[in-house]
Amino acid sequence: MKIVLGSDHAGFEMKEDLKKFLSELGHEAEDAGTFSGEQSVDYPDWGVKAASKVASGKADRGILICGTGVGMSITANKVKGVYAALCADEYTARLSREHNGANVLVLGGRTTGAALARSITKAWLDTEPEGGRHLARRHKIMSYETQSGTEGVETAGSGRVMIIEHPLIQHKLSIVRDKDTSVKDFRDLVQEIAGLMAYEISRNLPLEEIDIQTPVCGTKGFSISGKKLAVVPVLRAGLGMVEGILRIIPNAKVGHIGLYRDPDTLQPVDYYCKLPNDIGERDIFIVDPMLATGGSASAAISHVKRVGGRRITLVSLIAAPEGVEKVSGDHPEVDIFTAALDERLNDHGYIVPGLGDAGDRLYGTK
Ligand code: RB5
Repeated sequence: MKIVLGSDHAGFEMKEDLKKFLSELGHEAEDAGTFSGEQSVDYPDWGVKAASKVASGKADRGILICGTGVGMSITANKVKGVYAALCADEYTARLSREHNGANVLVLGGRTTGAALARSITKAWLDTEPEGGRHLARRHKIMSYETQSGTEGVETAGSGRVMIIEHPLIQHKLSIVRDKDTSVKDFRDLVQEIAGLMAYEISRNLPLEEIDIQTPVCGTKGFSISGKKLAVVPVLRAGLGMVEGILRIIPNAKVGHIGLYRDPDTLQPVDYYCKLPNDIGERDIFIVDPMLATGGSASAAISHVKRVGGRRITLVSLIAAPEGVEKVSGDHPEVDIFTAALDERLNDHGYIVPGLGDAGDRLYGTK
């Protein structure tokens, strides 16, 4: 594993010791400074530098050290995509991985002894994050982070899970969930929610400045600059979201992908796929209202990748933690947008509480 280390003067000695320890354990240690314990330096400078390497994927994990560890942990947690845990014992270190998925370990160079720092580091490195309720909680943090618009110095810009909690979306989603909502209302509301989500998923489209003439005078305005988009619904329920997105992004091209589950292998098999010829040049939004087991979504993403798709985002209305885990595991670079992250799947593979079968409710087939 590649681990980046950073410290201020008060953590320098421990950083040097842990560098050796990491090499003994067979890891690759990258030293992001500071490079002397003699000169007093500011921990935020070195903390951001090292933490940004984790956020951008240049290092798998990070270890930061200052005198108490407090300054470094406050600093690191300002970098988007970094989840830093200040640990003074092995138990906390293990749980900071299992429950919190911490990708940066913070230690106090003046408060924790060298031997303990080594055993904390080993416990932290040897522990993997757990799924289920812990994953759902971590996604809430990620969602908050996205909505609050904090920006790291460098971010991977991929593989994030964003829960769009806009009041209008949540209001409409609750009507959609209601079992007594009619097929017509269900269909209209799914399109409306998809349209509202389109605002969020198109948030980063680049703009270029243009000259325009108002009835009063000439001025500068903005135009979306040459970004090519494709919306790809997974048949059939994904179709229920397409019109809503096209109302907001009318120039997007539409591809289709159809999958069924093989009754013997239970694996998704694609039976239909028609995508824009230039799919490799487009930002692709694969849409499917329910991200349940994640099997079809993951297969759809794999298929789109096989035919040349590169920049892919998955958009669902309701996701289960199991589905998010499957897609994030199979396609770690794919961003997932959803309006809700529900509790779990039941024994029949339905999302709980969910909304039932989106295809049946859209088309009145049950
Ligand atoms: C440096 O004296 C000290 O303030 C720093 O290392 C750290 O403990 C800050 O939180």
